[in-house]
Amino acid sequence: GFPRKLFSGIQPTGDVHLGNYLGAVKQWVDLQDNEHLILSVVDLHALTLPQDPKELSENILKMTATLLACGIDISKSILFQQSQVYQHTELAWNLSCICTMARLSHLPQFKEKSAALKDVPLGLYIYPVLQAADILLYKATHVPVGDDQLQHLELSQDLARMFNRRYGTTFPLPHALVSGEGTAKIKSLRNPLKKMSKSDPDAKNRICLTDTPDEIVKKIRKSVTDFTSKITFEPEERPGVSNLVMIHSSLSGKTTEDIVKEVEGLDTLQYKSLVADCIIAFTSPISQRIKELMEDPDYLRNILAVGTEKATEIAAGTMEEVKSKLGI
Ligand code: ADP
Ligand code: NA
Repeated sequence: GFPRKLFSGIQPTGDVHLGNYLGAVKQWVDLQDNEHLILSVVDLHALTLPQDPKELSENILKMTATLLACGIDISKSILFQQSQVYQHTELAWNLSCICTMARLSHLPQFKEKSAALKDVPLGLYIYPVLQAADILLYKATHVPVGDDQLQHLELSQDLARMFNRRYGTTFPLPHALVSGEGTAKIKSLRNPLKKMSKSDPDAKNRICLTDTPDEIVKKIRKSVTDFTSKITFEPEERPGVSNLVMIHSSLSGKTTEDIVKEVEGLDTLQYKSLVADCIIAFTSPISQRIKELMEDPDYLRNILAVGTEKATEIAAGTMEEVKSKLGI
């Protein structure tokens, strides 16, 4: 048996929104007390699409600040910048030599992401192999993921299995760690049939942890609901208002049932103002902390340097073993 170990990554491509927080970051913060958690700001993945260099380096620090502000604790978890640990690309190459083109071409995310592009970068095609390398490099046994990533995790399992079969047992087969609640997708504010997303060009559809109270009030007030003023939780029939109840429930820790009971008698407009207050109370201290941390980039760089060292120690060990098995 391999010791239980968790790996997860997040791209430094824009401000963390409530969907990212409730769907991913919160889980990591909750898990780190009792698990061995390795967390990476995956800048190499960000490069699969064009990035402004100045913005990217700023975003790497901002994501680091955001994770710290949300409660990631480097005395409990390893937090590092992917590109600083060279073994990620090294293992990705080795895995790309056992992965078939056919296997990659069937992944649905590639079809979606490349559909809008005239010329498709090779990196966009093979990034699931880099993801597999990210996980296998640390011999992670579990990966906290959203269900949109399950097919990529299957690829990681397949590549681990293929490597093990050819060269002898080296990697554990990584399993998905899907948490009970909180995995419900947070929806776009103005189009509650879609998920809240960083890549949505319209920032009015999401609430970022760094939004000002004013912005939050406006975005929630203008979020799409329906013509019924009663507050209920019926995600299928009433996705808009249910999304607000879901956000409210996730941030307050109360069940959606309790919330619906508690706010009986409020109309949609009154309820929106309550939800906005709840979000502001939650995001304000985090937003403040992000701002403070961003004023000290050297502190953030130092945090990442500590992470690089810890991650490299594990990664170098794995690569030594991999290369020796490959005969190189
Ligand atoms: P985005 O779509 O905003 O670019 P990413 O694809 O970078 O988000 O996802 C980062 C993490 O946040 C992933 O673990 C993903 O499952 C989670 N996540 C993203 N959007 C949502 C959402 N709307 N609701 C819940 N979790 C989400
Ligand atoms: Na820990």
